[in-house]
Amino acid sequence: MCGITAHVGSDEAVEDLLTGLENLEYRGYDSAGVAVKNGVGIDVCKRQGEISKLKERIRGEVDGGGNVGIGHTRWSTHGPPTDENAHPHTDCTGDVAVVHNGIIENYEGLKRELERDGHEFDSDTDTEVVPHLVEAYRDEGLSPEAAFRRTVGRLEGSYAVAMVVEGVDGVYATRNGSPLVLGVADDRRYLASDAPAFLKFTDRVVYLEDGDVVALEPGDHRITDLDGNPVERPPETVDWVAEDAEKGGYDHYMLKEIHEQPTALAQTLQGRIGGGQGADGASPPAGNDAVELEEFPPGAFGGVESVQFVACGTSYHAALYATRVLASRGVEASAYRAGEYATSPAPIGDGTLVVAVTQSGETADTLESLRVANEQGARTLAVTNVVGSTAARESDDALFIRAGPEIGVAATKTFSSQVATLTLLGERIVRDLTGLASEGVGDLLDSLAALGGNVQRVVDESRAQAVAETYADRPSYFFIGRDVGYPVALEGALKFKEITYEHAEGFAAGELKHGPLALVTEETPVFAVFTGRHDGKTLSNVEQVQARGAPVIAVASEDHDAALDVADETLTYPEAAPEAAAVLANVQLQLVSYHVAKGLDRAIDKPRNLAKSVTVE
Ligand code: F6R
Repeated sequence: MCGITAHVGSDEAVEDLLTGLENLEYRGYDSAGVAVKNGVGIDVCKRQGEISKLKERIRGEVDGGGNVGIGHTRWSTHGPPTDENAHPHTDCTGDVAVVHNGIIENYEGLKRELERDGHEFDSDTDTEVVPHLVEAYRDEGLSPEAAFRRTVGRLEGSYAVAMVVEGVDGVYATRNGSPLVLGVADDRRYLASDAPAFLKFTDRVVYLEDGDVVALEPGDHRITDLDGNPVERPPETVDWVAEDAEKGGYDHYMLKEIHEQPTALAQTLQGRIGGGQGADGASPPAGNDAVELEEFPPGAFGGVESVQFVACGTSYHAALYATRVLASRGVEASAYRAGEYATSPAPIGDGTLVVAVTQSGETADTLESLRVANEQGARTLAVTNVVGSTAARESDDALFIRAGPEIGVAATKTFSSQVATLTLLGERIVRDLTGLASEGVGDLLDSLAALGGNVQRVVDESRAQAVAETYADRPSYFFIGRDVGYPVALEGALKFKEITYEHAEGFAAGELKHGPLALVTEETPVFAVFTGRHDGKTLSNVEQVQARGAPVIAVASEDHDAALDVADETLTYPEAAPEAAAVLANVQLQLVSYHVAKGLDRAIDKPRNLAKSVTVE
């Protein structure tokens, strides 16, 4: 986790670093800090807490006119979130300052060695060994760049590191297993863990690779490998715009991103259904059952016999949904929680396709699973939102969900875009295997094409706020569903607990009676997800919880009289095929979580203890 950033060029280093950090705050918000060169030395300002706290103090502590600096926003791994443990970390002299994202696994041995040589440490972090090692190598007579390279050569683990050093009008940085992108503007250069940090300043980026060492100077940069051999990496233009990463008048990014789902879905589906290009921002045309994944021509998945999905959290729920889509079309598919798959991988055969589903493309557990699958010789595919992410680069192929940047820590629009992408992928695989379109695909694709408009109706007409007010302040909340409604129940509960801090659990509807029913009382609101498939059985489960006095909120199609009549409260969506209905039901649950969390005054965009991009195992 953690976000790092760097600026070299204009006299507005402090302003640009703070902008970058605010755009990276979703990666961690335990503490924040900057180090800026002021012409005679390096000013460091760092504070426990969010970036707003750093901003309150920075004017008095940092020279506003510096043109070179580095910044950091932290999600704690080694040591509690204190001022001392905040980055940047410095050497004994204060001439070297470093920010780091990742984990240096051999830091204890390095620290002992440095302490034996007289270095004094101020923090509990693994990172602090880096500036002290650079100091030690400079004391041996190495140049700052050579000392940086020698230091990096001693590090084991994952890291993206950026350093400023006295006497050098620039920044040195490198990466190994943690993301780092370079932003190229005419007279300035930026570094960040993620491109939205500097999108306001430039859309030209270089995705750095593991082992790259980059030296930034005003208006220029040099990329080399660890041995100093030049590496050519031409900049690419990213098509995300700065406004996508701003709040745009909404109280929270999460609400903005819930409302952005029609646009995100249109982007996801554009040109992929019906062989046509939807107009900008509009859904693609309905009524044609062609599925075109531009990256994968017909036949691309011909040899696939089974699919293993690996993912975490919300992405795991999207993966679980995909297994239902594939299995119902006769394709063997299973979903694994990536943290488990990495240690207990499933057997891989000749025709196994391993699909890593990951919004960020940087989740450590998912990357580890991907590496395990690669080592075992599986064909691998990343389904991700981030072009140039580690998952995209380390997989044989990548399929992009095209949802645009998501800043709220709770994933919303990216779930919908993942599900839409995976549904199309499923259909592509079925066609490649059987030579035929799957049964009922016309209705499914029509529902997908109409999904954006239907999500808009849900968002416009939702009664989620009223439901949230009625059922606020209960000890526990249950979410149930089956088939494609089961991942939605899990996702509804995850979102709810994540941002409200209230206890919530998702269950397969039929599983309730095998134990969890013991917890159900009249104080346990149960959200029941109906998708139009196997609903009769879910209705029986609803009766079982109602018999124990639990209030039931049916999330169902607006013409589903049976579900709506029996429920105590209803959240409806326009009629759609079950696969699309699951997405619509999920939007209602996103809104319920949002309104309950808002009523409780929670930190909705930055829930406690969490970060968006989980780059540690
Ligand atoms: C929950 C949430 C997390 C992520 C998980 C995986 O709202 O956002 O559960 O889904 O950390 O992240 P990615 O998809 O980036 O691999």
